[in-house]
Amino acid sequence: MGLVAGTQRALVKPMEMTDKLGRGLRDLRISVTDRCNFRCRYCMPAEIFGPGYAFLPKDHLLSFEELVRLVQLFVPLGVGKIRLTGGEPLLRRGIADLVAMISAIDGVQDLAMTTNGVLLAHHAEELALAGMNRVTVSLDALDPEIFGKMNGTGAKVERVISGIMAAKNFGLPVKVNAVIQRGVNESQILPLACWARETGVDLRFIEYMDVGETNGWNMAEVVTGGEILEILSTEFQLTPRDQAYRGEVAVNWRHEGSENEIGLIRSVSAPFCADCQRIRLSADGKLFTCLFAEHGHDIREILRSGADDTGLTQSIRTIWTSREDRYSELRGKVEMKKAEMSYLGG
Ligand code: GTP
Ligand code: 5AD
Ligand code: SF4
Ligand code: SF4
Repeated sequence: MGLVAGTQRALVKPMEMTDKLGRGLRDLRISVTDRCNFRCRYCMPAEIFGPGYAFLPKDHLLSFEELVRLVQLFVPLGVGKIRLTGGEPLLRRGIADLVAMISAIDGVQDLAMTTNGVLLAHHAEELALAGMNRVTVSLDALDPEIFGKMNGTGAKVERVISGIMAAKNFGLPVKVNAVIQRGVNESQILPLACWARETGVDLRFIEYMDVGETNGWNMAEVVTGGEILEILSTEFQLTPRDQAYRGEVAVNWRHEGSENEIGLIRSVSAPFCADCQRIRLSADGKLFTCLFAEHGHDIREILRSGADDTGLTQSIRTIWTSREDRYSELRGKVEMKKAEMSYLGG
């Protein structure tokens, strides 16, 4: 039985909107700092992000009050998922206060953080108490030498693992992300998968992407999701599971005999732009409608010029409804200068 047009309209929340490709806005990723205590080669190579690198000055960062105001305006536009990222979000002073402020906002259904985990053992308890729902920890290798080389600082894998354990102990579900790069860490695929199953965390392997302009990306270094799956299939019985929500970036399998999942994020070999419902806010208040966008829209300028909520909401609506990004589908066919992921948020 079909619905009459009037009833159909009534089902759509009045403020919700779609972009030029019919995609709603569901997911806001907030970068709270462009600084990081790692120098992963694929993200912030040390020779570029060295001691003389000009990170954002403090007064350019959005304050917690400004962030909260923006989140309050994003929720009625359709956003229910918020992710705090960086750089390394745990380097932002008082981050648990921000978590508490955002988790108290009506309509925020899922508040998560992406962290490199090295400071997580110190912060897990306060994050959990502040209302964080879960954390995603990046961990590309278990082998100490490979891990030290990849993070560019020699940081020890044990510290990240303690962070993960602390998060679990304080009741935070953990997902682990591992970027796989050919010639660097393919050897870690099976050990990471075994470890994740034993430890009780979900694991996603990410294809190495051409984000930013500094990592010297080249297709030959991408280990595709298909190759990763082939390697996994030599050791594991994996059962596919359905998409958990529209726009989920990972394709996931269940480990036989375990509650945990293993997934692939194949943004190079199988782009997922058609369902992309994400917007990114850089630490200095620029809204990016794509991870690969050339530039962002300066919402801080509008905020600080004294705009009222109606004006701000209208600006956000204009940005979203004008959006037609689908970079991963166009890779190789367009040339553009891309912002760095450490700046605009992962
Ligand atoms: P869940 O809410 O846990 O499902 O998180 P998520 O699937 O959004 O994953 P997460 O935030 O952990 O993202 C994992 C990685 O996927 C990121 O670090 C990026 O490398 C990649 N990724 C996430 N969103 C996008 C996107 O919009 N475009 C592209 N190309 N890659 C993305
Ligand atoms: N390709 C794929 N993933 C990347 N990340 C950072 N740079 C890249 C890249 N070039 C991932 C990190 C982390 C998240 C913040 O983004 O591994 O999981
Ligand atoms: Fe830091 Fe994450 Fe980038 Fe590594 S990937 S340098 S941990 S922001
Ligand atoms: Fe979304 Fe851009 Fe990633 Fe495509 S490339 S999924 S549009 S962020």
